[in-house]
Amino acid sequence: MTQNMSHVKKGWLFAKARERIPERNYGITGDLEPPAYDKMLRFVRDGGWMPTKHILHDISKGLVLEVGPGPGYLGLEWLKNTSQTRLIGYDISEDMLAIAKRNAENYGLMDRAKYKKGNVREMPFEDGYFDAVFSNDSVHEWADPIDAMNEITRVLKPGGKYFISDLRRDMNLFLKGLIWVMCRPKTMRPGWLTSIDASYTLSDIQVMLSKTKMTGWQVEQDVMRFYIRGGKSKM
Ligand SMILES: C[S@@+](CC[C@H](N)C(=O)[O-])C[C@H]1O[C@@H](n2cnc3c(N)ncnc32)[C@H](O)[C@@H]1O
Repeated sequence: MTQNMSHVKKGWLFAKARERIPERNYGITGDLEPPAYDKMLRFVRDGGWMPTKHILHDISKGLVLEVGPGPGYLGLEWLKNTSQTRLIGYDISEDMLAIAKRNAENYGLMDRAKYKKGNVREMPFEDGYFDAVFSNDSVHEWADPIDAMNEITRVLKPGGKYFISDLRRDMNLFLKGLIWVMCRPKTMRPGWLTSIDASYTLSDIQVMLSKTKMTGWQVEQDVMRFYIRGGKSKM
């Protein structure tokens, strides 16, 4: 197990992390929020602000699981930029999955993208089913993140890679305010703030990972997110 502590940034405009306020345990559902989230994510995709390149750097082949794809843009961009790859998007929200399926159709990628409903803490896949797993901005919504990380490890092949990123609760305050101002539709602004409050800090994540069966992990962060990357041991 490797732990990278060198990226813990404190100082000007970095919030002293307040106590975490859990957000929800059932995903993004209902008639209003999923379509608004879809619109916001299209804006994020078009601005080039999704961590697509980070994922492509680590994962570029095989059958891949995306946990909590929401409207699916990250996984669809990943598929678009790789060849002979397949993706299963696994999300707790039926409403989000309906949007992801529609988006996969619009990308012309329905033959390579499949979607399945369920909770990450208990997945209906055999041990070692996936070549790789990735997830973005979803961990803060998982009620049982340690069980979830263990499940991710279980469904990965020996030697399979994982990439898990999420918002930092102590993110740069200027960026937090700037994104709040830019946030469209404006109805998503309160959700932006509650998501940050529900998120983890890099040290929370290091403590969490040390309690899981995950091996070979490294954690780093930039001004907005932390990134967990690694591979399941081959034995
Ligand atoms: C904030 S959205 C992020 C969506 C997308 N990955 C992105 O980068 O914008 C979080 C997603 O995780 C899903 N989710 C939350 N808890 C989950 C769980 N326990 N198991 C599976 N998916 C979950 C939500 O339904 C939602 O679609």
